[in-house]
Amino acid sequence: MSTLFLRSAVVYALFGIMLGIQMAATQQFDARPVHAHALLAGWLSMAVMGVMYKVFPALKHRVLGPAHFWLHSIGLPVMLAGVFAIHRGQADIGEPIAGIGSMVFAVGIIAFAVNVWRHVKED
Ligand code: HEM
Ligand code: HEM
Repeated sequence: MSTLFLRSAVVYALFGIMLGIQMAATQQFDARPVHAHALLAGWLSMAVMGVMYKVFPALKHRVLGPAHFWLHSIGLPVMLAGVFAIHRGQADIGEPIAGIGSMVFAVGIIAFAVNVWRHVKED
């Protein structure tokens, strides 16, 4: 689980930073929320989560751990694609996509929250 999260995190880091450079270079800031969420919900959150799965092996719950990873990994890119479309003036298609993606992402965070409450314990 830890490896999956950390490998995904660095992909978001590269994507987000390239988008930031592209925005700065072109002075077109339409993609700012995509940049912000790729870096914060992708890179930083997944890096922290990856370290947590390593520090607390009990989080490798056979259902909650993989459910969290896959819901995060499906929901977030779908949400980013929807937000990108909204900021490109295609709100009619972007809004439902962003809505569905963000709900899938949120369910993943719920799975993670339940997992942390149930399985993270002091030594
Ligand atoms: C090469 C690296 C980066 C470049 C060139 C870059 C560029 C930018 C640009 C051009 C904006 C839009 C500013 C505006 O609308 O006035 C922005 C916003 C933002 N960036 Fe980056 N960025 C970089 C790295 C990062 C990193 C590493 C993070 C987080 C880990 C980050 C988080 C954010 C956030 C949260 C915003 C939105 C800020 C707001 O709403 O005021 N950026 N960035
Ligand atoms: C289901 C998940 C999420 C949804 C639906 C969501 C939604 C939003 C919306 C609607 C905005 C305003 C965007 C705009 O002004 O155009 C926003 C901004 C922001 N969100 Fe989120 N968010 C989510 C998760 C997160 C997470 C996990 C983080 C950080 C770890 C985060 C950090 C931010 C930041 C820093 C901004 C300001 C960035 C900017 O101005 O572009 N969000 N979010």
